[in-house]
Amino acid sequence: MGLWSISTVLLLVSLDKIKLASSCKQWEKYTDEQLHKIISTAVQNAEVSHRSIQTLNEYLSNIELDESPTKSSQWTYHRHYAVFKRLNHAASSSDIETGIFIDLASTELARSFDASIKQLAVCPRIVEIWLKLIRFRCKPRKVICFPGERYRRLTGGMQQSKISTLGDGGQSGEEVFTSRIPGCDVLFFSSKGVSIPRQLSVNGHPLPSARMVSNIVHRQDPCCPLRERDLSLYVMQWGQMVDHDIVDTAGLKGAGDSSIMCCNISRKILEKRPECFPIYIPKGDLHFENDCMNFVRNLPAKDDWCRLVNQATSFLDASFLYGQSHEDSKSIRAFKRGMLRMTPSGLFPPPGSSDTRSCRLESQEHYCMKSGDFRIHVMPGLTSIQVMFLREHNRIAFILGKLNPLWNDEDIYSEARKIVIGQLQHITYAHWLPYIVGPDRILQYGLKVSQQGYANVYDDEIDPTIANEFAVAPFRFAHTLLQDTVPYLTEKAALTFRSEDMFNKPTLAFSNGGKGVSYVGFGLSQAPLSKADEKVVTAVRDNLFKDMDGRSLDLVSLNIQRSRDHGVPGYNSWRKFCGLPYAFHFGTGPGGLVHHRPKNARKLQLVYGHPDDIDLFPGGLSETPMPGGVVGPLFSCIIAQQFSDLKRGDRFYYENGFKVTGFTPAQLDSIKTASLPRLMCTHFHLNRLQVDPFRLPSDDNQLVDCSIFPEINLELWRV
Ligand code: HEM
Repeated sequence: MGLWSISTVLLLVSLDKIKLASSCKQWEKYTDEQLHKIISTAVQNAEVSHRSIQTLNEYLSNIELDESPTKSSQWTYHRHYAVFKRLNHAASSSDIETGIFIDLASTELARSFDASIKQLAVCPRIVEIWLKLIRFRCKPRKVICFPGERYRRLTGGMQQSKISTLGDGGQSGEEVFTSRIPGCDVLFFSSKGVSIPRQLSVNGHPLPSARMVSNIVHRQDPCCPLRERDLSLYVMQWGQMVDHDIVDTAGLKGAGDSSIMCCNISRKILEKRPECFPIYIPKGDLHFENDCMNFVRNLPAKDDWCRLVNQATSFLDASFLYGQSHEDSKSIRAFKRGMLRMTPSGLFPPPGSSDTRSCRLESQEHYCMKSGDFRIHVMPGLTSIQVMFLREHNRIAFILGKLNPLWNDEDIYSEARKIVIGQLQHITYAHWLPYIVGPDRILQYGLKVSQQGYANVYDDEIDPTIANEFAVAPFRFAHTLLQDTVPYLTEKAALTFRSEDMFNKPTLAFSNGGKGVSYVGFGLSQAPLSKADEKVVTAVRDNLFKDMDGRSLDLVSLNIQRSRDHGVPGYNSWRKFCGLPYAFHFGTGPGGLVHHRPKNARKLQLVYGHPDDIDLFPGGLSETPMPGGVVGPLFSCIIAQQFSDLKRGDRFYYENGFKVTGFTPAQLDSIKTASLPRLMCTHFHLNRLQVDPFRLPSDDNQLVDCSIFPEINLELWRV
């Protein structure tokens, strides 16, 4: 298999790219000073032309809005359009100034070298100098915060007392991913030639196709899916909810919000679509018959084209429930006694007329629910967990309203939201995270939660922004925990549905008069987690989002390509970042892949030409898990670091004892009694449940009467 796979990789090598890389040779004769001079002159010329542009309209009016996709000017427009349309910002001149400047500078650059941007983008010396000279355009976004604010903002900004919008996924600026290894961010060269995804091996050859890596490293033998220790599928489901709370990258869209096609188009048109970075499917693939998987690049930040956008607030703040903006919030809140809008059967309501997001409906009586996050229907388990939190908010709001008749809608809503977020943070840090990173990392990164009392951990020097690398690989670890089936446990029967038939459908949530969310939720706690290894089930590795014509995607290929799209360096760079041994060879002895089993190291060797080429996702996921955790040393380091930053960089973190923003000591101790079984028992109407639903029932995790799980004492909120 090794030989054919490597030769297929070579066959797939795009000759164009090799030609591009070798064209750098013509500039080798230039000294660094000469290159610097040429590039800085291009940037200065762009400055002059930029100053001469009086208005945005003038600039745009020079761009022909031709329907023909062969005109590069049209793509310039599309790109701006995509950026601003996606972010719901009016296309004001200040918004796109940077974009225009980078356009102009790129054009000047190409002219100075008499080459295309694509040719220049693969020449490291030119790129390095260009990055230095252009970076001043990447302005930090700063606005004044008011440390006296009592509740965290919906948009996530102002969570720090310093002057900053870090962590802001919403309106006042926009959230970007930071990279912990400087210089690894993608730089969007221009709206025409665009950027530099990671695509070349250290030896100068193209990296292997992401699907090739997926086939060799991540293929699950359909005969023998393994289960993970005694953990339940709820571990996976909680993870996806947390992911959607803190990460939401933005895919580029074409004009009119259309999807961008990167396959089945001519090479010429592909050249004109800088948004495209399609995945080549090797010949002889066991599932896909064509040779191309659609892949559209992610969106650069509007005032920082050096970075990518996170549409979610970084903070763990239940934004999947409350939304990320005041506009969202308007359609989510009932504006009556602090409640969120909810149907009589306890589900999210239909969307407002302006909401165009869709899901796949199988009955005229169903609709796509409106929650704080549009991905609510990706899996029935995710819908179930989001509904659980919706019901919890309204339960708390109802009681707070009764306890404090003088409180208005806003008072009740804000305090209920604060309590819900407190519970979400508590269960995540105290009960869920240890199963992911293992107890050693919990101690090492100061992530342990005490049973009672404050932990004043806030540090205003800490940047809580979600790290680029965290989003594209380590926190996608749970893709290996997925099962091919969705469990559905009613009072009378134990059913399962094929996962691939359930993507993006609200069908199960509406089943049995709304009881479906409970049956799915309970089912998740009784079904085993897929083994935490490098293998990923076919439901998502071959059959992700299958359409009517049988076309589907491979989630693993998307993960690998996304890391490259975001410019994230390979596995070895992150090993170094985490203080773990660097792999100089593919063996598992000293100096090699010391945290891999020989079998996994061999698989990596089959696809990659050099250990430095190994992509972060396959390299990290195929490490042997930490004791007591489901991820290996590298992923546990990056995940623990991120959760430490989210804890220490969040002024509103629930254990902080700040006077205005914190809980009282008694309230905090009560929040610390919150638990997943309590939430499930209450909102899925259960009588009995095991003590820890993140683990399967067993002798030391027995099914008990729900009455033993304590309720938060809301009397403590009576004023
Ligand atoms: C059946 C369940 C799931 C499906 C169908 C699914 C599907 C996807 C898809 C299609 C993407 C975007 C891929 C790309 O183009 O880059 C994605 C991203 C991601 N997934 Fe999953 N996923 C599932 C479960 C999970 C779980 C359990 C986790 C838990 C930690 C998780 C974490 C992530 C993260 C962190 C991202 C990046 C998000 C972003 O870029 O906005 N996923 N997933």
